[in-house]
Order: sequence, then C-alpha cells, then structure tokens
Amino acid sequence: MNSQAPLVAPASLNAGRIMANAKPAVATPIRIAIIGCGYWGMNYVRIFNELHDSRVVAVCDQRRQRLQELAAHLQGAFLTTDSGEVVSRPEIDAVVVCTEATMHYGITRSLLLAGKHVLVEKPLTTTVAEAEELIAVADARPAVLMVGHTFLFNAGIQKLKEYNQTGDGHVYYVYARRTNLGPIRRDVNALWDLAPHDVAIFNYLLDSTPEWVSAVGAKVLRNCREDVGFITLGYPGGVLGHIQVSWADPNKAREVVIVRSDRRIVFNDLNGLEQVRVFEKGVSAVESEPLNYGELRFQIRDGDIISPHIEPSEPLKNQCRHFLECVRLGRRPISGGLEGRNVVRVLEAVNRSIELKGLQVQVERNGYAHHLERDRDSVS
Ligand SMILES: NC(=O)c1ccc[n+]([C@@H]2O[C@H](COP(=O)([O-])OP(=O)(O)OC[C@H]3O[C@@H](n4cnc5c(N)ncnc54)[C@H](O)[C@@H]3O)[C@@H](O)[C@H]2O)c1
Repeated sequence: MNSQAPLVAPASLNAGRIMANAKPAVATPIRIAIIGCGYWGMNYVRIFNELHDSRVVAVCDQRRQRLQELAAHLQGAFLTTDSGEVVSRPEIDAVVVCTEATMHYGITRSLLLAGKHVLVEKPLTTTVAEAEELIAVADARPAVLMVGHTFLFNAGIQKLKEYNQTGDGHVYYVYARRTNLGPIRRDVNALWDLAPHDVAIFNYLLDSTPEWVSAVGAKVLRNCREDVGFITLGYPGGVLGHIQVSWADPNKAREVVIVRSDRRIVFNDLNGLEQVRVFEKGVSAVESEPLNYGELRFQIRDGDIISPHIEPSEPLKNQCRHFLECVRLGRRPISGGLEGRNVVRVLEAVNRSIELKGLQVQVERNGYAHHLERDRDSVS
C-alpha cells in the first residue's frame, strides 16, 4: 500500500462517520502526548514525530530512566512520570495510552473527561463495563476514542479482506495462529494479550461479531495466568473461527487463514516476500440427487496460486495517520470504541468459558454501547 493511500472501506457501519456534535478545531500540527514509553510506546514517539501533521509535545512514563533516554531526542517536550499532568495540560490535543492493559481504563477515562482525543492500545479495557463507560464518555464530549488494533491497518490484512469480498464462494471457517516465546505480561494472560489482534481481524474480515465462544487455556510455564490458549468462535451463519495463542512456543507464527468454498486465502506476516497467498482451490457439495444413500456429490475446484503485490508500509504508521485524520475531521475510527468493546466482549466470554472448562458461552450483547449502535443503525 502506498504510504499516502487511503485505507480500505471502514469495517463497521459506524466507522468513518462524522461524530455527532463533532468539533474538529484542533491545532496543526496536532499536539500529541504518549503515556507509557516501553517497548511499543517508543514506536509511537518515533512515528508521531515523523508525521508532518503531528508533533510529540509530552511523554510520560513511570520510569525516570526512560524519560532521561527520551529527553535527548525530544527537545522542548514536556517529560513527566505522572499521567495526571498530561490530563491537566491544555496544550495537548490528543494522547496515546500505551501502558499495561489493566491501566488503560483509568488513564483513558480521565483523559476523555478532560476533552482529549485518545488512541489506546489493545485491549481497550479488561472488562466490558469499563469499555462501555469509555464509549459513553467519549460520545458525550465528543472526542475520538480509537483502539490500537494495528492489524486492521496492515496492508496484508486489507488485501485478505479484498480477496474475501470477491469471488462467488462463501466462507467456511477462519483460523489464526499467534505464537512465540513471550513476551510474558504481568497483568493479563496470553489470551487477553494476543487474541485481541485475531478477534479484531476476524470481526473486520467477516463484518460481524461472534455469537458464542468456547475456550481452554493452560499454564504450561507454571505462571499464575494462562500462557497458552485455544479459542473457538461461532459467527453468524455457522461460520467458525479458531485462534491459537501461546507465549511458550519456540516457533513464532503470525498467520491468518480464510477457508472458503472457492478459495483459501493465507496471510503470513512473517513472510516478507509473499505476505498473502490465494489458492484458487475449494470444495463444495453439489445440489443434486445423492449417488447412494448418504452420499453427496462434491465439486472440486483447482486453480491458480496467486501472491498479490503488496506495497510495503508500516501498519502502525498507517494507524497513527488514521487517528490524526479522525481527530482533524471529527470522524469515527475504523477501530473505535465500539470495535474495541466488541473484542473485550469476546474476551470476557473467553474468561467464562475457561472457568467452565471449555463450555460454549454466549457473547453478551447488552449495555449502553449496544443501544448506541442500534440507534445509529436505525438512522442510517
Ligand atoms: N498493537 C500492537 O501490535 C502491540 C504490540 C505490543 C504491545 N502492545 C500493547 O501496548 C501496551 C504496552 O505494551 P509494551 O510491550 O510496550 O509494555 P512495556 O511494559 O514495555 O511498556 C509499558 C510502559 O508503560 C509504563 N507505565 C505503566 N503504567 C504507567 C502509568 N500509570 N503512567 C506512566 N507510565 C506507565 C511502564 O513504565 C512501561 O515503560 C500493552 O497494552 C500492549 O498490549 C500492542
């Protein structure tokens, strides 16, 4: 994807829409603060300084040493260990929250209440109730609330969606593998850390959310939390999803596969040469009289293997650009609060299913944001 090219069509009905009472009056360049400058947060510091329409004016981290390292590169920026100081500074337009997952809710809430636009890392929160509250607060300001579901801004995943929207077949099932040795989190398990990416990808590719989940996990490293997990998701129309995550697998995998009646579409983020491969092969039952009792005819389709050209671009940079655009134009992001809440909703159901040793659990569909979604859909 060209670095200036627009992203593919919004994932949900709400994405891309102008927010009610939107007031796009922000400074240019947009003045950004980053809270949490660890492994991932440092990428935000770099990118928002590289982009021409934003400038990092403040950074916050609890670790003084990290701030000292940053001081040399960020002349004139405000440095603090206290996120409350970012909340209270009027010259900051928008903030990235890139702390551990359990801190997302509290910090994001106070920023939104202070009128800041927020890009918060995944998972949005660690409970649905918290996610719903953040959506309500953002809606009331109004402010942009966006979640760092980075893979929705990956040109390979966008290509996968393109190929899934064409052809005359339909989806049978989707699966994803996200494994590696760590990094092990101290506040959430491997399912909450890794699966948000894949749930967000599935929801985006299928344009829907799961109705039920079934999940099991294991603590193979004798950690106090699950470091391995297997999740099955039931999407509308009988489409199944499966996600395998692990912090304990020496084989790093970042793979998403769509199996359809007419083709198989594979995304492998670790394959720099052929990130996406499309196998024009499939099998479907033929609508005709069975040959014998209980025997159906099957039609096998066997065609080309395509590896489409994908213009290299940095997914996180695409995501940051999208955030700036939403702030500037008062737009709803592709991965906004509702999309983030939909992911948290699945993970809450995953928690319950693990407690019930893999029993199928319905994904809750009530709450403030559900009504909001319904109201918006009815006026569209
Ligand atoms: N989207 C992606 O692809 C992706 C990739 C990696 C991590 N992440 C997410 O980014 C977040 C951070 O992950 P990480 O790997 O950078 O973790 P990390 O532990 O390396 O960094 C977290 C940083 O936040 C700081 N911090 C914690 N609480 C704070 C507070 N109250 N005020 C100020 N600073 C605080 C810590 O000192 C630390 O420097 C997590 O939510 C993680 O899920 C997303």
